[in-house]
Amino acid sequence: MTFDWAAWANLALRWLHLTAGIAWIGSSFYFMWLDSHLKAPANPPPKTATGGVAGELWSVHSGGFYHQMKFMVAPQGMPDELHWFKWEAYTTWISGVLLLALIFYVGADVNLIDASRLALTNWQAIGIGVGSLALGWLAYDTLCRSPLGANLRAFGVIWFLVLTAAAYGLTRVFSDLGAVMHVGAIIGTVMVANVFLVIIPNQRKVVAQVLAGETPDPALGKQAKQRSVHNNYMTLPVLFVMISNHYPMIVSAPLNWLWLAGLGIVGWTIRHFFNLKNAGQLRFDVLALGALAFITVAVLNETAKPPPAAPVAVPPFTEVRALIDRHCVTCHAAQPTHKGILAPPNGVVLDTDEGLTKNAAKVYERAVKTHSMPLNNETKMTDAERASLGAWISAGAKVGS
Ligand code: HEC
Repeated sequence: MTFDWAAWANLALRWLHLTAGIAWIGSSFYFMWLDSHLKAPANPPPKTATGGVAGELWSVHSGGFYHQMKFMVAPQGMPDELHWFKWEAYTTWISGVLLLALIFYVGADVNLIDASRLALTNWQAIGIGVGSLALGWLAYDTLCRSPLGANLRAFGVIWFLVLTAAAYGLTRVFSDLGAVMHVGAIIGTVMVANVFLVIIPNQRKVVAQVLAGETPDPALGKQAKQRSVHNNYMTLPVLFVMISNHYPMIVSAPLNWLWLAGLGIVGWTIRHFFNLKNAGQLRFDVLALGALAFITVAVLNETAKPPPAAPVAVPPFTEVRALIDRHCVTCHAAQPTHKGILAPPNGVVLDTDEGLTKNAAKVYERAVKTHSMPLNNETKMTDAERASLGAWISAGAKVGS
């Protein structure tokens, strides 16, 4: 028995990553919503706060009524128990980094390195991957602290261009999925570092100042707010990257970096629409812009696809079998022989004829329509071979003729 520990670690980490991510994003969306729905208090409590009560909100949920108040800059005295929201973010990052390391660093030769792009050694690839995360944060933090940081719009445009450049660069160096996931990991790392290195430390300083009887420095709150607004706008793009492995039409497209940037704009606009809506402005033009960006990506992506090759003769089955055996079955067999692959990926078994016919539609998707298989085109499957395989599947994937 070979115990596929990597598959089980993958399952546990992905599940944790998703759960923690939901908790993090849920609470941060909630607080953004709360902030924009606060109303000036009906009876402001006098002298209970430095700077007073900025707003309050009543809500009803799960069988009870809730009354929230926001103190600007801080309450005069600290309550005994104060809830912090940080472990949701930290857990999301820790599980995400472990998952990234498991898939793309432990499995660097299979999943991260694409020798047809750059013949990196495992350690070189890992170095570039980890370096990109560190560099991403340094670039972001430097931009935030520069005069640009004061201008939300200008900052947004420049940071978007930096990320697009990173996507372009990484897709020259890594496998498609490895590159796209690293772009997501850069964004996720920036978001968590914002919480860990700016938002939480600033909140700690405010608490310490209040406890020391000093007036808290409003600049601390302002800086924390800047970072949390940035995080808010980065959320939807990073969520797309998390599910992007389901969309080879984006990830494995020659212009994948561009489609990623386009969907980044879509995510940004949708978030912006809801932020404005929460602030009482229904801006359907912003929503329309998001829809337009989505449609533009879809149409350009479809039209950028290579034109269908001239009709190819349906090959005899023996030829198809030989193609599949050469290009696919080292991984897609009940007992894979490829290094690092312990079980047939996604349960797709192609070394039996039943397996091949059953998965014909998926095979078409991955090896003919998009070129996301063979993984990183390790075996150098040619366009002619793909067309031939496609012709056989289009003619009904008949075995034995
Ligand atoms: C080096 C190993 C390797 C080789 C060779 C390989 N694959 Fe894959 N395949 C994978 C991995 C890993 C996944 C899962 C990740 C993903 O979906 O991209 C996968 C996923 C798939 C899926 C997705 C199944 C689903 O549920 O969507 C299909 C279909 C597929 N491969 C077909 C093929 C075909 C056809 C070939 C040969 C032309 C091939 N693969 C060659 C490793 C390989």
